[in-house]
Amino acid sequence: MYLSRCGSTTAQTSLATPVPAPEPDQSRLVDRLRAGGCVFAEDEARLLVAAAHSAADLDAMLDRRLAGVPLEHLLGWAEFCGRRIAVDPGVFVPRRRTEFLVESAVRVLHERHRHAATTSPPLVVDLCCGTGAVGALVADACEPVVLHAVDLDPAAIRCAHRNLADAGTVYEGDLFDPLPKALRGRVDLVVANAPYVPTTEIVMMPAEARVHEASIALDGGPDGVDIHRRIADAAPQWLAAGGRVLIETSRRQAGKTADALSRNGFSTRVETSERLEATVVIGANSGG
Ligand SMILES: C[S@@+](CC[C@H](N)C(=O)[O-])C[C@H]1O[C@@H](n2cnc3c(N)ncnc32)[C@H](O)[C@@H]1O
Repeated sequence: MYLSRCGSTTAQTSLATPVPAPEPDQSRLVDRLRAGGCVFAEDEARLLVAAAHSAADLDAMLDRRLAGVPLEHLLGWAEFCGRRIAVDPGVFVPRRRTEFLVESAVRVLHERHRHAATTSPPLVVDLCCGTGAVGALVADACEPVVLHAVDLDPAAIRCAHRNLADAGTVYEGDLFDPLPKALRGRVDLVVANAPYVPTTEIVMMPAEARVHEASIALDGGPDGVDIHRRIADAAPQWLAAGGRVLIETSRRQAGKTADALSRNGFSTRVETSERLEATVVIGANSGG
């Protein structure tokens, strides 16, 4: 997740974004960022300079950054799968590891489409969508897709509206509750990066997450798997025959996430990416 107090998803943002070489007068900025513990000080300096409207603005951003505000909240965007995703203060910053959830969802949708009897666009639900990053990228890669995205946090919902624009419909509410009942039994893919940090482990998280992201975005209950269980319990009512549920989890929690799905009749498999240090559990509904 976060590489250091001043590291984080910024690593992917800065390294993948072509930005000009630092000007000599940026060296003071780089020095201060480095002294403050930023691993990618040069990249951060360039991004802050590019985002600042004035010298005073830059100073203020630097102070806030050194006080632990995530770079993405200062910039107002995060890079995710090569795309800029709007992210407001307090909203969960899409993590690089979650790119594996997108890759897995795209692969599963392509497989399903190859074997599907229908030519109508697949119906995808992004649960706990946050900024809408996952749904937006899946929709981009698999167009045409009918996308519905849900989150409980009004601040996240505002970001999701901006990021999805007309690529999907955004709902505020608890998991499947706000979705139109007409979607029941018709959903091809449910994709979820829901909170999965065990409650007692939140205090051990870096301040960038613990202080600057909503606790509702992190807290997965006593063992971190509460919301996965709720998704697994409800998903069979919404999925089409042969539909899939993809849930990001951790290597340590994967067994519990998979159990929650198996108990609801899904056949499951766990996929991991060493490169992204990411784990996804895939549940297949019967009939496909
Ligand atoms: C770990 S963040 C992930 C956000 C986004 N999927 C991503 O990968 O960037 C979890 C999100 O779940 C939302 N959330 C938590 N509980 C929820 C619930 N019961 N129903 C809907 N959304 C929920 C939070 O508001 C937060 O935006």
